[in-house]
Amino acid sequence: MELTNSFAGLDLRAEIERLRKERNAVILAHYYQKPELQDLADFVGDSLDLSRKAQATDADVIAFCGVRFMAETAKILSPDKIVVLPDMDAGCSLEDSCPPDQFAAFRAAHPDHIALTYINCSTEVKALSDVIVTSSSAETILAQLPRDQKIIFGPDRNLGGYLQRKTGRELLLWPGVCIVHEAFSETELMKLKAQNPGAPVAAHPECPAVILDHADYVGSTRGILEFANAMPGETLIVATEPHIIHQMEKAMPLKNFIGAPGADGNCNCNICPYMALNTMEKLYVALRDLTPRIEIEEGLRVKAKKSLDAMLSMASATVGQGDLGPTPFRVVPVTGD
Ligand code: 13P
Ligand code: SF4
Repeated sequence: MELTNSFAGLDLRAEIERLRKERNAVILAHYYQKPELQDLADFVGDSLDLSRKAQATDADVIAFCGVRFMAETAKILSPDKIVVLPDMDAGCSLEDSCPPDQFAAFRAAHPDHIALTYINCSTEVKALSDVIVTSSSAETILAQLPRDQKIIFGPDRNLGGYLQRKTGRELLLWPGVCIVHEAFSETELMKLKAQNPGAPVAAHPECPAVILDHADYVGSTRGILEFANAMPGETLIVATEPHIIHQMEKAMPLKNFIGAPGADGNCNCNICPYMALNTMEKLYVALRDLTPRIEIEEGLRVKAKKSLDAMLSMASATVGQGDLGPTPFRVVPVTGD
């Protein structure tokens, strides 16, 4: 997005504070956002917690510091709110890897499968899906599906592969990847481990299996933060987008957090280029002008909401690992109408 405004002499923080009150706005931010955006947000969280906040808020405006699929999720769940995204170009490589027409054809070719779909996808793909999952809810939700249920999992083949290995369930995988988590280097990670003997590795399941094989903990961004808090040692190697380290350093100033490296030996190649598009200046403009605004056609929104509602109710269920409980969740596959 081209910004033609001049911000010279503006106290952006104070202006954002003023507009937040004037607009009755809530600022939601993902852990991968720049520290200054995380610091002024009303709530910082992982994809599931951000969805829940977006659904529950009584604000009139949601300013979403994250990527477009997250802001669209907020709009699907809270259609009466104005949802602004500081930069509308903040997409996601996983979303890009799953064009809706190709996904629809894939579904049609496997009519006996349901679609369990990672939240990192377009609204159109959500509308073609039966149940959405986030990295923090995927195992809980999968455990509620009958073992004989055939399942398509997309768009992240790494998260899908991790779920297959962890649960022993067979999933038909869509071949999408996150460019950020694909960029970690196993060789450099092994060097870093050797330099920090005994330091555990916490990794996001969007990482490929060669990285996850070295991890002591695999989980969502919130899960990684909880692991960092609970671990007895002082040093943690973090294999996910490095802006999460800001929250770790704030909450645990006495511990030492090292971003896992890419092939060049440092963690800067693992900064998400889409998340990085959001800035203080763009947030200020978004709150001032209430644009760029997320708009979703109502029929599409209603279809997409079904799979998100299924996620929200199933994510709250307390089901043990692999324990289907007495009444497994029977999903009737969505049809193409
Ligand atoms: P979580 O924050 O839900 O773990 O997801 C990470 C992510 O992919 C954001 O793009
Ligand atoms: Fe998408 Fe990866 Fe960026 Fe998350 S980190 S928004 S999955 S490209």
